[in-house]
Amino acid sequence: MAYDYYASGAEDQWTLEENRNAFSRILFRPRILIDVSKIDMTTTILGFKISMPIMIAPTAFQKMAHPEGEYATARAASAAGTIMTLSSWATSSVEEVASTGPGIRFFQLYVYKDRNVVAQLVRRAERAGFKAIALTVDTPRLGRREADIKNRFTLPPFLTLKNFEGLDLGKMDEANDSGLASYVAGQIDRTLSWKDVKWLQTITTMPILVKGVITAEDTRLSIQAGAAGIIVSNHGARQLDYVPATISALEEVVKAAQGRVPVFLDGGVRRGTDVFKALALGASGIFIGRPVVFSLAAEGEAGVKKVLQMLRDEFELTMALSGCTSLREITRDHIVTEWDAPRARLAPRL
Ligand code: FNR
Repeated sequence: MAYDYYASGAEDQWTLEENRNAFSRILFRPRILIDVSKIDMTTTILGFKISMPIMIAPTAFQKMAHPEGEYATARAASAAGTIMTLSSWATSSVEEVASTGPGIRFFQLYVYKDRNVVAQLVRRAERAGFKAIALTVDTPRLGRREADIKNRFTLPPFLTLKNFEGLDLGKMDEANDSGLASYVAGQIDRTLSWKDVKWLQTITTMPILVKGVITAEDTRLSIQAGAAGIIVSNHGARQLDYVPATISALEEVVKAAQGRVPVFLDGGVRRGTDVFKALALGASGIFIGRPVVFSLAAEGEAGVKKVLQMLRDEFELTMALSGCTSLREITRDHIVTEWDAPRARLAPRL
């Protein structure tokens, strides 16, 4: 049940496969004979300096993967010098995660029908030292995840949605289908709209990243509504099936953002080459979801550290073999996509 919850996508899982496959259709145009003896992967995200453009996406219920759950993830992210995003539905509270030690952390927000609950939670996250809100906007209802329905997915009885424990919303009841889908239907606000993005700015000074944008239209609306950044995400293919892979939607969003706010990507990033491709298409950084829960399940904190190190090493190697010594040097010309004009046809014919 736990594995299925982590691994699966919505319905036919077409987008789940496509999130990976689309990366494999983007090829490199590496440059040669450039001194790559020193590679700088550092970057600054919303004013915070981090060691690499590889960050951790919010994933719910991490104690289902490992007893140390979110604590382990927080420590591993901090050790790697990167950002962890804590899910609203974490099995550890914002205060507990903050108590693991220093680290730059974002808080992912699901907006509940009861806005007092939301206001309280945002205030707690801010007080606990979280630096930004990732507002998830693709989940007015839960996607149809058939494995969860079949398994009648629910949280194991020893775990709670820790952030909501004191608010009587910490338990997930069993249901005839997915317990999580029922919880969402009961608690999450389907009326959420652009005006709420503005409302959120009246209750917090934290910058807001809109998570779940995949079109130019919504990019422009997000910026108008005051977003500090955009996360191109299809929720790891767990919401609407048959949306494009995020790497296929990225460039449309980057163009619409016109450099006004940074654009990030999550979905299917499994290799250092994927990170490079996202940056070449204009992303300021990427987030990983499943690699964290799987490495957590395998080896706890050491596992998450290892996954971050593997991606870091692979990304550094990709930069070296492409002739890039800093993130600034990664350009659109370092890759070729299937929507680019075929270069061969531009060459003179004999
Ligand atoms: C998620 N995701 C997610 N997103 C969110 O905003 N809040 C959440 O609580 C969760 N929970 C969650 C659980 C699990 C098990 C998965 C796999 C995903 C989506 C997540 O933040 C991110 O968008 C995707 O996971 C990125 O895709 P990859 O890296 O898993 O392919």
